[in-house]
Amino acid sequence: MSLINLIELPVLGDARGSLVSIEANNTVPFDIKRAYYIFNTKDNVARGFHAHKNLKQLAVCVSGQCRFELDNGLQRESVLLDSPAKGLFIVDMVWREMHDFSKDCVLIVFASEHYDEADYIRDYEDFLEQVKS
Ligand code: TYD
Repeated sequence: MSLINLIELPVLGDARGSLVSIEANNTVPFDIKRAYYIFNTKDNVARGFHAHKNLKQLAVCVSGQCRFELDNGLQRESVLLDSPAKGLFIVDMVWREMHDFSKDCVLIVFASEHYDEADYIRDYEDFLEQVKS
């Protein structure tokens, strides 16, 4: 089964332009408790490098592009987010890295839980141990 779960976000367009709506338990299969966005990322910076024990997320590049690498301990896959109509759904216990941010990249993430540092696994070896057990 692919690790890359892309949700095609319906674009509501009219003569004035485009609009995408994200609704909890509808467009995204969870209750949204938090949203954050990453922008102004400097050249050659990669981010992420962690997994979450209990967190579902939907990531959307609303401007520009970046590349996600997802890893479940058995396989690693890469996907380019280059459209505001592409949502990447990420479940628990998936190692994620973000690479190749364009200068104009604005990456918004909708999350199922509030921020909790204790939910992070930031060490890749720890992550591999925990997915095995
Ligand atoms: P982090 O999750 O490490 O960023 P990334 O995975 O994108 O590289 O978060 C960077 C910092 O921001 C860290 O100090 C925690 C803080 N932070 C919050 O306070 N709230 C949040 O919702 C998020 C995602 C991060």
